[in-house]
Amino acid sequence: MPHDDLHECRVFLTRPIPEPAITYLRSRCAHFSMNREDRVLERHELHERVAGAHGVLSLLTDRIDAAFFAAAGESLRVVANMAVGYDNIDIEEATRRGVMVTNTPGILTEATAEFAWALLLAAARRIPEADRFTRSGQFKAWAPMLMLGQELSGKTLGIIGAGRIGTAFALRSRGWNMRVLYSSRRDNKILDNELSAQRVDFSVVIEEADFLSLHVPLTPETHHLIDREVLQSMKSTAILVNTARGAVIDEAALVEALQRGEIAAAALDVFEEEPVIHPGLLELENVVLAPHCASATETTRTAMAMTAARNLVQALSGETPENLVNREVKTSGARC
Ligand code: GLV
Repeated sequence: MPHDDLHECRVFLTRPIPEPAITYLRSRCAHFSMNREDRVLERHELHERVAGAHGVLSLLTDRIDAAFFAAAGESLRVVANMAVGYDNIDIEEATRRGVMVTNTPGILTEATAEFAWALLLAAARRIPEADRFTRSGQFKAWAPMLMLGQELSGKTLGIIGAGRIGTAFALRSRGWNMRVLYSSRRDNKILDNELSAQRVDFSVVIEEADFLSLHVPLTPETHHLIDREVLQSMKSTAILVNTARGAVIDEAALVEALQRGEIAAAALDVFEEEPVIHPGLLELENVVLAPHCASATETTRTAMAMTAARNLVQALSGETPENLVNREVKTSGARC
């Protein structure tokens, strides 16, 4: 029996998410509705559906900009994004309108770090390429020069951004006995103490890394952080891994660098214009591609959905949500 204690709240969910979160939202919110189709809503559809909503549970594929806020109207109190990143949301506009924005930090750290390693290993040992080769019947016999890749042990691992995910990724290098360099705004005691890692200048990480993994959010400062010049200063044997956001890399410059052999390989879970992939990437053998799925485990996606749903309910109940991004927006203390 639902106890829909938020009697007056209209809540909209933009796409199906793990069931426990839907059940929870239904049980708490009297006026709950959702897009039942497993697809991203067109902008005009999204705008129509959110009109008059008090709370919206959004995904990173939803553009939450000034037009969205205008379409939702004055009733909107909270946008709960089911992602740690919130570059899809105009935070300034949300804050100006007094709309709380929440995200889902922490929960997807381990899954994302694991996936970054899966990508790195896949690129270093050429696993997708080996799989394509084997399936296509080209495997005739063991061969001394077949599918030679790179070993990880003893190499230098470069981390750009030593926050939660960057730290979890770096800690997993222990088994490979690697030298760890990182670039970050501040010292990371965990990495320094547990790995004897060194915080060095961005340019040093770039020049010395055998394997470079990106773990920064997308902001105006990190947009195209990895550009042509940076790619040219990397080792020609280097492998670049990106599980952060596509636009942290200048994708056209990356294609050129890979074509010219300026770096050895790239393993990418994220792209500049998702879901569009630069055609040059699709043609290259030394690229591993994944459909933005680093956090895609049953456990993590369920936890992310529940966290987003709880944040939304907390905001509508007049509480300060656990993962409020724009802390300048104060809750009125009242239920909607
Ligand atoms: C995934 O990319 C996220 O930001 O949660």
